[in-house]
Amino acid sequence: MSTQSTTTPDELVTLTIADADPAPRTLAHDVHDGLTQPFKQLPPKHLYDDHGSDLFAQICELPEYYPTRTERSILVARSAELAERTGAVDLVELGAGFATKTRVLLDAMQAGGTLRRFVPFDVSAPTVRQCSGEISAAYGIPVHGIVGDFERDLDLVPEPIGPRIVAILGGTLGNLPPGSRRHFLGRLRGLLGEEGRMLIGIDLVKDPAVIEAAYNDGAGVTSAFNRNVLTMLNRELGADFPVDEYEHVAFFDRRHEWIDIRLRAVRDHVVRIPALGLEVPFAAREELRTEISSKFTRERIAGDLAASGLELEDLLTDDDGLFGLALARVA
Ligand code: SAH
Ligand code: AVI
Repeated sequence: MSTQSTTTPDELVTLTIADADPAPRTLAHDVHDGLTQPFKQLPPKHLYDDHGSDLFAQICELPEYYPTRTERSILVARSAELAERTGAVDLVELGAGFATKTRVLLDAMQAGGTLRRFVPFDVSAPTVRQCSGEISAAYGIPVHGIVGDFERDLDLVPEPIGPRIVAILGGTLGNLPPGSRRHFLGRLRGLLGEEGRMLIGIDLVKDPAVIEAAYNDGAGVTSAFNRNVLTMLNRELGADFPVDEYEHVAFFDRRHEWIDIRLRAVRDHVVRIPALGLEVPFAAREELRTEISSKFTRERIAGDLAASGLELEDLLTDDDGLFGLALARVA
């Protein structure tokens, strides 16, 4: 794979960008594949174009969306202990976004005198650029930002420079379907080196009403985030989705213990996607799945980790048991 790396004049920020070409091809492939099946679906990574990343940042501030503030509270309470227990000098964060909460952990690593490098990895180029610049300036450490797909481009992550934490925060692991999740965790094992730990944010199973409220906010931000994927497809592939004629749907699927997020067509219509030479019929009330967000029990995450050659060392939770931070190591 060809990549592009740039280093800024102050030499503290390095950016590695996975080959620019596969990104649009991946979108074309995913859309072709996902919209020509009897049950239509798209992978959630396509929700994060520039506007989608900004909308997600707004979701994190919503009163109904408890995961962000709860995970942050666990980090505030336990980061000093995590820094000491792991002795980590290097923090790799997959799906880092703007890495806002991550600063709590970086602060603790710096206070403990171990912090030497941060490696934010995200499919969204603007978020990686922004957080790399801000974090290198704030902490005075080298930041190696990587723009790529963490299911495909993990070989771009640099070798460890000492004990390392590989973090995936916010519940992003739960956006992968169970089979891909285990495969992905197995591949992450290879990033840990001898003494590395995984730190995985997981949303916990709880009262479905609380979960459903978090994905059906009163201000309609989650609906805008969801429907933005259609605006992106219209822009990137010349499609003609009538964006305003899709409704946001999010419900807790008790059997799978995940939130299922969909877009429901209001009326019968055919969408043209000229870039793919496709015409896609939608029946009235037909749904397109745009994301799942799995909720975990201790047993579920321990089982996923075990199936991937990892072991759950600890599960740090808030007092109300809303959210967890799973600390794991090579089994
Ligand atoms: N970690 C942050 C952001 C979570 S939002 C937080 O806890 O608030 C999920 C992030 O993962 C987004 O920034 C999105 O762009 C990124 N992402 C989703 N799928 C990805 C993929 N396949 N490869 C790389 N990044 C991905
Ligand atoms: C990034 N991810 C963990 C979020 C979640 O809760 O599954 C994405 C999201 N989708 C709608 N709201 C938030």
